[in-house]
Amino acid sequence: MLTIVALISGSGSNLRALLEACDSPLYPAKVRAVGADRPAAGLEHAELFGVSTFVLEPNKFSSKEQWADLLLHSIQFHKPDLVVLAGFMRVLPKSIIDALPGKIINIHPSLLPAFPGAHAVRDALAAGVTMTGATVHIVDAGIDTGPVIRQQEVAIPAGISETELHERIKEVEKTQLVGVIKDIAEGRINLAEVAN
Ligand code: GRF
Repeated sequence: MLTIVALISGSGSNLRALLEACDSPLYPAKVRAVGADRPAAGLEHAELFGVSTFVLEPNKFSSKEQWADLLLHSIQFHKPDLVVLAGFMRVLPKSIIDALPGKIINIHPSLLPAFPGAHAVRDALAAGVTMTGATVHIVDAGIDTGPVIRQQEVAIPAGISETELHERIKEVEKTQLVGVIKDIAEGRINLAEVAN
C-alpha cells in the first residue's frame, strides 16, 4: 500500500478525487494526512474521509526556515511513500525537496513546459493557443520545471472563460492524478527512472 501525504491550498477537488479513489479497497494507495498553508476549504474533504489534517501558515512563523522545518517534520511524521502537491500554491522550500528526493509530485493545469506558474490557465488564454492540458510531474527546486510523468491535452474552444476552462482541465487532472498514483503504487511508473 502506497502511503501519501497531500498538500493543498484551495478547494481540494483533486484531493477529493484521490480520497474517493483511496476509499476503494482495490485502490493501492492511502492518504495518511493532508496539510495546507492556509485554512483551505479543501481540508473539509480530508475531515469527511477521516484523514488527519494540519495547517501551517508561513506568516505565523518568525522565519521561512522555521516554517519549512515544521512542514517537513509534519510530513515525515506520517512516513509517506509519496508527497502529492494537489493545488499547493507555494514553492516548496529546497530543504523539503532535498529531504524527500524524487518522492514529491505536483499537478499543473497546462502542458508543461508551457505556462508554468500560478496563472497557467489565464496565461494560455492570453497567449491565444487552441490547446492546453494537464501535467503531473516530479517536483524539483524550480517552478513547475521537474520531470514530466504524464500529460493530457485539453482543447480551448473559442470564447471559453478562464473558470470554465480551468474546470475542464480539473476534470482531466483528477483522472490523471488517480491514474498516475495507481501506476506508481503498482510499479508501472518508476519515479527514479522518470527523474533520470
Ligand atoms: C489545479 O488546477 C492544480 O493543477 C493547480 O491548482 C488547482 C487546484 O484545484 N495547481 P483544486 O484545489 O484541486 O480544486
